[in-house]
Amino acid sequence: MIKHLVSMGVTLAGGLVLAACSPQTSLPVVPTVTAAAAASQAEPGSLRAAAEACGLVIGAAVRTDPILNDSQYQAVVSSEFSSITTENALKFRTLSAQPGEYNFQDADTIVNFAREHGMRVHGHTLVWHKSLPDWLTAESFTPDELVLLLERHIGTVVGRYRGQVSTWDVVNEAIDSEGKLRESIWRQALGDDYIAQAFRLAHDADPAAQLFYTDYDMEFAGVKSDAIYELVRSLVEAGVPINGVGFQLHLRLDHLPDMDVMQANMQRLTALGLQVQITEMDVRVQDVNGTPAEKLSRQAAVYGDMMRVCLQTSGCSAVNTWGFTDAYTWIPDYTGKPDMPLLFDTAYTPKPAYTALQAQLAACHNQN
Ligand code: G3I
Repeated sequence: MIKHLVSMGVTLAGGLVLAACSPQTSLPVVPTVTAAAAASQAEPGSLRAAAEACGLVIGAAVRTDPILNDSQYQAVVSSEFSSITTENALKFRTLSAQPGEYNFQDADTIVNFAREHGMRVHGHTLVWHKSLPDWLTAESFTPDELVLLLERHIGTVVGRYRGQVSTWDVVNEAIDSEGKLRESIWRQALGDDYIAQAFRLAHDADPAAQLFYTDYDMEFAGVKSDAIYELVRSLVEAGVPINGVGFQLHLRLDHLPDMDVMQANMQRLTALGLQVQITEMDVRVQDVNGTPAEKLSRQAAVYGDMMRVCLQTSGCSAVNTWGFTDAYTWIPDYTGKPDMPLLFDTAYTPKPAYTALQAQLAACHNQN
């Protein structure tokens, strides 16, 4: 194991400093994109302009291939959104194929695209029990080695994009459906304190970045959303540098939340002095009967409802979707069935869901 840690450049017990690895690509340090810079690039009539007028960040998760190769994808995402989330490019598995090696090519592509278009970057995700490199899950590292690996990972990744990634999903999906802390290699090594440690490490690497805990099913009442509230409350009470909570919102038409519950769950978090954001919204339509037009109409109502709740919640600072075109979405791969969960169809035509968001944003001045 030590040979792996040597190649990672970590400091071992006794203060022995081992050689650091060198990233395979380099990125110039640039200032963080400001809200004013983002606003200046918003085209009149776009979602981006409408959200900016409401003081809201509107974002979408993106993939590297179409950011490089699909000109329509590039044009729509840069004109309609003020922020992009790295769908997979900043996951540990994507970044590190071999022990001690980091390849930032995909992430750099997205961060550079954002900079060229005056967009923010939401970094996803530093600590997750999934999408870990095989070398990390296959090997049996000691707890001390895992602590060093976590320190090294967060320091390397957040440090590289210091001033360029303005918000981070620091810890993703740490609570299970029974409201208990999930098992993960990080919890085994550091104990339950791994969550607080991750936030502290991220803050040390970029004190200006806004740091989020994010999870799914937080829009419902029950043990999971209550446990997340308690976890976050205890982090705030302990002075851990956490700035907000992300509601993923992977929704399905046959299992929708009550809007009052959703808003109450947001408000109890903002009452702690935190921001809340919608971080991964999509609305799956494959599970219900109806014509395509009927499904898209029901889907639009859900998007509109969620935007309304965010606009009505002081402290809800962003609405982000998990992709923006039905041409690129994780859902068909996951369910084995076609779907159309996003704001634009596969030909990049805006769907009723897009119109519903625009309608809510147009009304934001009456709601605030
Ligand atoms: O790029 C390879 C391709 O070369 C290969 O041929 C193919 C074969 O399976 O796999 C491709 O990689 C896939 C990658 O998505 C890109 O499409 C991975 O197998 C697949 O596991 C990966 O899935 C991602 C998943 O997280 C796991 O990391 C999804 O795209 C991504 O949308 C999904 O996102 C998660 C969030 O991180 C957390 N919240 C839930 C959300 C949805 O599951």
